[in-house]
Amino acid sequence: MQGPLKAIHVAALVAFALLIALHAVPRAQQPPAAPPAPAAPPPAVPAPAKPLVPVATNTVTAHPDAYYGQAVTINAAVEQILSKSAFSVDQRRVGAAADVKRTPTDVLVLVPTIQSPVELNAYVTVMGELVKFDPAEIARKAKDYKLDLPADVVAKYSGRPALLATSVINEKFVDLAKRLPPPLNAEEEAYQKVMRQVGPAFAALRPAVEASNAETAAKNAAVLQKAFTDTEAFWKPKKAEPTLWAQNARKEVEAVQAAIAAGKWDDAKAHAATVGQACAQCHGAYRERFDDGSFRIKK
Ligand code: HEC
Repeated sequence: MQGPLKAIHVAALVAFALLIALHAVPRAQQPPAAPPAPAAPPPAVPAPAKPLVPVATNTVTAHPDAYYGQAVTINAAVEQILSKSAFSVDQRRVGAAADVKRTPTDVLVLVPTIQSPVELNAYVTVMGELVKFDPAEIARKAKDYKLDLPADVVAKYSGRPALLATSVINEKFVDLAKRLPPPLNAEEEAYQKVMRQVGPAFAALRPAVEASNAETAAKNAAVLQKAFTDTEAFWKPKKAEPTLWAQNARKEVEAVQAAIAAGKWDDAKAHAATVGQACAQCHGAYRERFDDGSFRIKK
């Protein structure tokens, strides 16, 4: 680049940087929209299926129909604790004493997966679906949830907007609705190790059998045979049903091993498919997934 041209280039860059800086400064200094300053939005919340609409409690209570069925987020103070899994929130209003309440502006929040209680008056960010409160509707939407509200509270909020919350972020950025897995005891840890071998071994067995690859198929079948022997031993003193499924899985794996040894690949395929049914059967009844993606034995 030539001398004068370079100077112009640099000047342009400086001007551009200045423009950005000028833009950024007043923005950063702008006061937050609603005093007192609520906690910043929570970090790393998994993307919801629908976009979350940030709303104020008084907006929701004034125009609930516009929000029913929508995924919303509300940042407000806990006004009342109503039960183990329910509370109400309301935005703090400056000069609220003089304000005659025509429509109540508190919103009922129901948290089916609540793990620890919210604190009265603390700011929370709640996210979930806005629904018109009605116990039958809640039962339909949250199948495993048992509404634990006293009758007078049910009556008070019936027909009003309620948030069926999946996240309740407190001032320390802890999601109080997130179900974290309990710690493993030694036996459960050993069990988990076995399952973590079963996963990849089974994933490798199927294509090896499809490809008539005796060496890979036999190697993975041996891992599974040992793993299901251990699985069976784990369940035997505890529960009959999963013991039987583990035993069936082991027998099917042994049938796969025999078929591989005999070069009967169609038999090997058929028995490998049956092993897969045992996984689904047992996981459906005895495996539980937590919100962080980890698994535990369902108690
Ligand atoms: C008799 C019951 C039973 C059978 C059969 C069974 N599982 Fe599991 N599996 C469980 C349970 C219970 C858990 C949860 C325990 C855990 O992960 O700590 C689990 C967890 C797992 C996990 C997650 C491990 C982790 O925590 O990271 C994988 C992967 C898995 N199983 C794969 C399989 C596959 C593949 C099969 C079939 C080829 C199978 N399982 C058969 C009961 C079973």
